[in-house]
Amino acid sequence: MKKIVVALDGYSSCGKSTTAKLVAAELGYAYIDTGAMYRAVTLYFLQNHVSLTNPKEVKEALDNIEIEFHYNPKTKRNEVYLNGLNVEDEIRRMYISNNVSEVSVVPEVRRAMVAQQQKMGRRRGVVMDGRDIGTAVFPDAEVKVFMTADVDTRAKRRQVELLEKKQLVNLDEIKENLQKRDHIDSTRKESPLRRAEDAHLLDTSHMTIDEQVEFVLEKVTSRILRN
Ligand code: DC
Repeated sequence: MKKIVVALDGYSSCGKSTTAKLVAAELGYAYIDTGAMYRAVTLYFLQNHVSLTNPKEVKEALDNIEIEFHYNPKTKRNEVYLNGLNVEDEIRRMYISNNVSEVSVVPEVRRAMVAQQQKMGRRRGVVMDGRDIGTAVFPDAEVKVFMTADVDTRAKRRQVELLEKKQLVNLDEIKENLQKRDHIDSTRKESPLRRAEDAHLLDTSHMTIDEQVEFVLEKVTSRILRN
């Protein structure tokens, strides 16, 4: 069967990655978490004190960064490696969430990540989640879904996720971080977060994960059958 690109974009913590992972498993596609790539770059920049306003430093840093995904059969997920080191847990910490939007605004960073993501999906057969997949990375994606949910629901979900990783974070702090990131992500100049005209809107505020997965799979099936 013809392989396609499934683009899942939307606000922070509305269930994109959980949905994308399950949809990819169901289709036998690769799952690419593009947020993890921006998080890995942020980790590198913080560790190496890269100044975001110094183009030379930014370029040099980007030249030295290699990001890969490797499947871990124990956790049954694709985990992120930064220059050969597994950084999956580190990049989910609050200090990365608090800095990642500022790093993602930098045009050189975006260009480097977008090029790498296009390469990863060039054979199609991928489910990619992020902010600009349907608008900038794969504007020709066969299925595009734009996910949203009310901010209180998102903050509570994020708190549970962090608790599962043994990180206790106050709900107000999480909510503030989500709102700040939403704002920076949607107002940046280069490929801001916005719904592509041909993206299906999915409000997950009152939906279970199974329902979200079913919604996307239904769009995939009808798109494949249309051809
Ligand atoms: O999906 P996430 O919350 O892990 O993403 C972290 C940040 O990375 C998010 O606040 C904005 C940025 N991002 C982006 O700018 N473009 C993408 N395609 C994915 C993420």
